[in-house]
Amino acid sequence: MPITVRKLSSRLGAVVDGVDLSVDQRPEVAAELRSALNAHKALVFEGVRLDDAAHERVASLFGDITRAHPTVPGATENVLAVDSGTSKSNQWHTDVTFVANPPQVTTLRSIVTTPYGGETLIADSAGAYRDLPESLRALADSLRAVHTNAYDYARPPRGSSDAYLEHHRQFVSTVYEVEHPVVRVHPLTGERGLFIGGFVRNLVGLSKSDSDDLLRIFQRHVTRPENVIRWSWSPDQLLIFDNRITQHYAIDNYDDLPRLLHRVTVAGDVPVGVDGRPSRQLVGDPSDYSVVAEVAA
Ligand code: SIN
Repeated sequence: MPITVRKLSSRLGAVVDGVDLSVDQRPEVAAELRSALNAHKALVFEGVRLDDAAHERVASLFGDITRAHPTVPGATENVLAVDSGTSKSNQWHTDVTFVANPPQVTTLRSIVTTPYGGETLIADSAGAYRDLPESLRALADSLRAVHTNAYDYARPPRGSSDAYLEHHRQFVSTVYEVEHPVVRVHPLTGERGLFIGGFVRNLVGLSKSDSDDLLRIFQRHVTRPENVIRWSWSPDQLLIFDNRITQHYAIDNYDDLPRLLHRVTVAGDVPVGVDGRPSRQLVGDPSDYSVVAEVAA
């Protein structure tokens, strides 16, 4: 059966059919999925019958996998439980941008889904960059940003449960800081995308107020509805997105119902800006979390 790809919106997202990921991991399938991911940035597979080990094998089609997380212990060594009982990722972010080589690909598998709400939003940061007026694009091209795990993203809401507070303690137990370009050039497609999100603390060389204002402007473009898809989960689905050129947000609109996804991430390369300058780690050493991916020629 041929692999079919059904678009979810003009800019990003597609549902993939015709491949049984639990058995079919041939190199030609991997190549087809990679090219679909380059084209659509986020792929959804329905009716997947994967356990954690098989989930890891699917993620490995895209490259070496990382440990579950730099600071938070996983459900297994390489699988992170995204569990509403300990945290809710209801802030726009790109995964783990507080290390110099954030994962290139994130894969999320639904285990416990909610009867209503609990959707994941995914935004196309390349569309956002293209929509900027030329003057703002030029400004963004010239900027760099400091990202850290010890910042707003990780702050638990007031009145949080002990489980939330413990998750937060683990999240910031080792502090990482990195300087990334604000515009990242995708190493496979050459697309430029706004590489910001919830771990950004400040723009380098600007006052806090200028930095906050500019980040708000850029972020507003990322989250324009035209750039966003909204995925509603049911059990046994796998969502794979290109973490180099998207942001995502888990909507907290399901009361206190349980929600559980398992996440496996694929080791990333070091981002490069339009001037060719790579990101650099300022604080912390993430080398035991992830290898640095080679950029394919
Ligand atoms: C994540 O941020 O990796 C999890 C997203 C989600 O819970 O939908």
